Parts: sequence; C-alpha cells; structure tokens
Amino acid sequence: MHLNRRTLIAASLSITFALAPLTSGFAASPAPAKGEHGMVVTAQHLASEVGVEVLKKGGNAVDAAVAVGYALAVVYPNAGNIGGGGFMTIRFKDGKSTFLDFRERAPLAATKTMYLDKDGNPVKGASLDGYLAVGVPGSVAGLEMAREKYGKLSRQDLMAPAIGYARDGFILNQGDAVSFAGSADRLAKDPAAAAIFLKPDGKPYGTGERLIQPDLAASLAAISEKGPDAFYKGAIADAVVKASGAKGGILAKSDFEQYAVRELKPVTCTYRGYEITSSPPPSSGGVIICEILNVLEGYPLSYLGAGSAETVHVMVEAMRYAYVDRNSALGDPDFVDNPVSKLLDKAYAKDIRDKIDPFRAGVSKDLMPKGFGESKETTHYSIIDDDGNAVAVTYTLNGSFGAGVVADGTGMLLNNEMDDFTQKPGVPNLYGLVQGEANAIQPKKTPLSSMSPTVVAKDGKPFMVIGSPGGSRIITITLEAILNVIDHGMNIQEAIDAPRIHHQWLPDKVYVEPFGLSPDTEKLLAGMGYHLDLADQTWGQAAGILVGGKSLAEIEKGGGARYNGAIDSRAASGEALGY
Ligand code: GLY
Repeated sequence: MHLNRRTLIAASLSITFALAPLTSGFAASPAPAKGEHGMVVTAQHLASEVGVEVLKKGGNAVDAAVAVGYALAVVYPNAGNIGGGGFMTIRFKDGKSTFLDFRERAPLAATKTMYLDKDGNPVKGASLDGYLAVGVPGSVAGLEMAREKYGKLSRQDLMAPAIGYARDGFILNQGDAVSFAGSADRLAKDPAAAAIFLKPDGKPYGTGERLIQPDLAASLAAISEKGPDAFYKGAIADAVVKASGAKGGILAKSDFEQYAVRELKPVTCTYRGYEITSSPPPSSGGVIICEILNVLEGYPLSYLGAGSAETVHVMVEAMRYAYVDRNSALGDPDFVDNPVSKLLDKAYAKDIRDKIDPFRAGVSKDLMPKGFGESKETTHYSIIDDDGNAVAVTYTLNGSFGAGVVADGTGMLLNNEMDDFTQKPGVPNLYGLVQGEANAIQPKKTPLSSMSPTVVAKDGKPFMVIGSPGGSRIITITLEAILNVIDHGMNIQEAIDAPRIHHQWLPDKVYVEPFGLSPDTEKLLAGMGYHLDLADQTWGQAAGILVGGKSLAEIEKGGGARYNGAIDSRAASGEALGY
C-alpha cells in the first residue's frame, strides 16, 4: 500500500476509533472522468469532443492532438491558435518519446534592444501590443509535422471540425463569454480583431450567442487544401507582412519562408521510481521541473504532508534555486550552451539540499548569479489513445488574445511571444521574471518558455499526462500536480484542484492561492522568514490524465478505470472526456 500522511492518519484513526478513511480535505473535487479506450482533456468542451471523435474514427493520440489544436484556434481564441506556437511531447506505446518545438522565432530584423528607448529603458507595452510584439508563428508547421510523421489520418479529416466551427459558428457558454468580456477593450483597439470578436454595437459576445469566423474558416480551408505552404508561402503570410509593415512591425516574408519546426530529444529524469518526460530548451519547463523534483526526492514529502510548513519550506527552497538557473542560464539551444546535464544531475540536487537551512527561509538576493515571464494565457491539453500513445501539448499566443491584432482577411490572432525574451537583463518582464543574457533577443532565436507538456511513466508504461498554462507558474503548477499524486495520494482531480503555491526566485515572495495554507501554517512560515503573498485569485488550468485508476491507492488496489481525466476546476469551459 502507498503510505502518505493521509492514509497513515486514516489508518491510525480507524484503528483507534474504527472510523472510515479520511476524505474531507479534498472532498470538494468532482470525480475524474473515466474512459477505457481513450481520454481527451482540453480547456474547451467542443475541442475535447473533436479529439474523442478523432480517436473513435481510428485516429491515434497525435491525430487527436492535431485536430484539437486546430479546433482550439477557433473555439478558444484567447490561447488556441494558428498565429502562435507551442510544444508537443509524445510518448509512444513502445516507450520511445519525442518532442516537437513549434514555438515562435524572432523576426530576422529583430535586435537585442528593440524594446528599449533612447535611454535604454523598456518602452511600456512595446513587446506586448501590436505588430512589433509578434514572433514568427509555428503552430501550423508544428501540427502538420506531427500529423505527417506520427499521425494516421489526412489533414483534411483533422481540420474539418475546426473549419466547421469557424464557418458555421459555435455557441458560447458562460466560461467562453467571460474570457471574451475580459479582453473586449483590448480587442476594440484593432479594427480587424474588433470586427470578429465584438458585436456591431461594440459589445463582446455573451453566453448563448453564436460566434462565426468566416475569414478564419477561409484561412483554415486554404491550409487544409494546400498544406502549410498556404500559410508560410502564400496569401496568409502576405497579409500578415503587409499589416505588420503598415502598423509598426518588422515581419518579412522571408521570416515565414524560413520557419522550421525542431524535433528535439525531450528532457527525462526519474522521481521516486517514476520516469518524467518533458520539454527541453527552448523551454525551461522540463529541466526546472526535474531539478526541483531531484531536490525534493531527498525529503519525505509524504510523511511531512501536503500544505504543511515543512513541506512548503523545502518546496519553496527548491523552487528558489531552480528558478535562478532558469532565469540566468537557459535559452534557445541553437544560440546558448544550456547546462542541462548539470542541472539534471542528482549530485547537483544534493548540493542544493546541503545549502538549504532546515529551519530558515533562504534569501533570493544572496543567490544573484555573477554578471548577470511570461503570460497567464496559454492552453494545455492531454490525450491518450487505446494503444497507450500519450500526447501532451501546450501552445500559446502568450497574452490573452496575443498581441490583440488580426491581419485583414486572415481571421487569425497574432501572438505577442516576443515579450518572453529578456528586454533588458535584470529588469522584470510583465510577469515579474528577472532574466539574463542567455534569453536576449537575436534574429531567428526562440524566447525561453516555461511551457511543460509532460508525460510520467512507471515500469515502462504511461502513468500520467499533465501540463498547464500559467506563464512562469506553469512549472510549479505541473510540478505540484505530480507531487500531489505521487507523494500525497490525491486522485488526479484533487491533485489538479488543490490550492497552489509558487516561488520564482525574484521577487522573493511565496505566492499562495486563496485558502492554500491554514493561518497557523502561514504563521510558522512567516516565523521562518518567508514573505507570503496571499493572492485573491487562483492561477493555471491544468489538464491531466492518470492511467490505471484515479489515484495511486486505486491503481494499487486494481479495478480502477483505465483512463482517468481531470480538467482543472479553475477552467470555466474545459472538459475531460473519455470513451
Ligand atoms: N508564453 C508562455 C511560455 O511560453 O512560457
């Protein structure tokens, strides 16, 4: 039996008082969705249905991921996209794995100081709003490479549902309407974006209303018919380059023509006997999750308990050290020599543990390397098929609705991924990340990401598929879901729903979700020297799958559902759908 603090307490109480096992701590989470043949978990219910239909038609998990990627571009336009980029981690049924990097690249005309004024200070909004913020999009090339190399179905089959939803429209539910309303002011600034996402009276579409996107339908139909060339070499690229030139951007046709997907070796590590497969640079995600896990492996987290002051202490210290590495040492592997083997070394993790004071908070400024962000609106989906192929995709426009601009006639929102670069070493970006030279802007370079599409395996078989949006917090969101399942015995839904903490080195604060810690735990941590930032809002929208049962306990007992899916209760319109 897997022993953690919950089962130990339950066992001792049932011996003493003959009580049933404790369940109250996480009883508020709904039950995970169940499936015997496949599972699709996305942030928009229509996209989940598209994925399941593809699996039922005989497509594999990669086919479903491609169809979902296009569908989200239509039904979840705040983050789903063809004008942005992302990552796909694939673990095949034979245990092999691969990683597709279709993230944006800096335009050829980009320069290191392009967002600084004449005094060398960042110009507010320049890397976030409008065409200067746009990186060369990669989603269309990435989804097509995935389909061609690893899928079974035709591009036309996989794109048809997205084209249908764009052409005929879809009815917004409450969650969809909230995200549109939140960005209405921003979308109103670009006439082409406003014409799509706002009604003729200038108001956003509301619950129960139908959003039709004919220009996007035409762009998708052209890609479906002619392939990525319709995007990178044809009318879509021409329209974006024309709009960019007219409105202060630097995108050129050659940026589109030269775009190439990279197929990379995923980052792998082990944690208490589980094998983690996740994103390599240009993401920091996999490396930093593994670095933190390696440090935490030396502490008895199960015994210390979820949310206890001792557990939070060691988690925060591990995060502090790992985020220094993230923000100072990592960057695009074509430009930077990333110290990945050092950061993944268990001996390096032990060195970090040796420096952690068991009773006191560390001090971030003491860790400042010599010489020395990202957005909350990204989306993650997790898919597994009947053969056990597991696919984790995180892709993004960066900010909600990206740069907030649409080139006339394309129907496609463009990203503001350039903000993920270091604008100026040492100066925090919009999301408070203080980054260094390794992530400085250069032509064709990819900005460092935190996106962490992750597959966990046990004994050679898929165990968990997980990831989330959340900017710099993606790493800790994904990490905590893994810890909650493996160390704290939570089921997959509880693990995702549980309140989160986050630390990213600078600013030197522990961010805590509402009700994340009890008042006496907060007091203990403050007494150790921690500065707690008790947030009034939650963050992240994880999407996860657990294989063989909804929790470790159920897996060990046997008899659980084969696939157990959970969409974050923080996600307003998502769905975990099994079949
Ligand atoms: N823009 C979010 C990320 O790549 O981490």
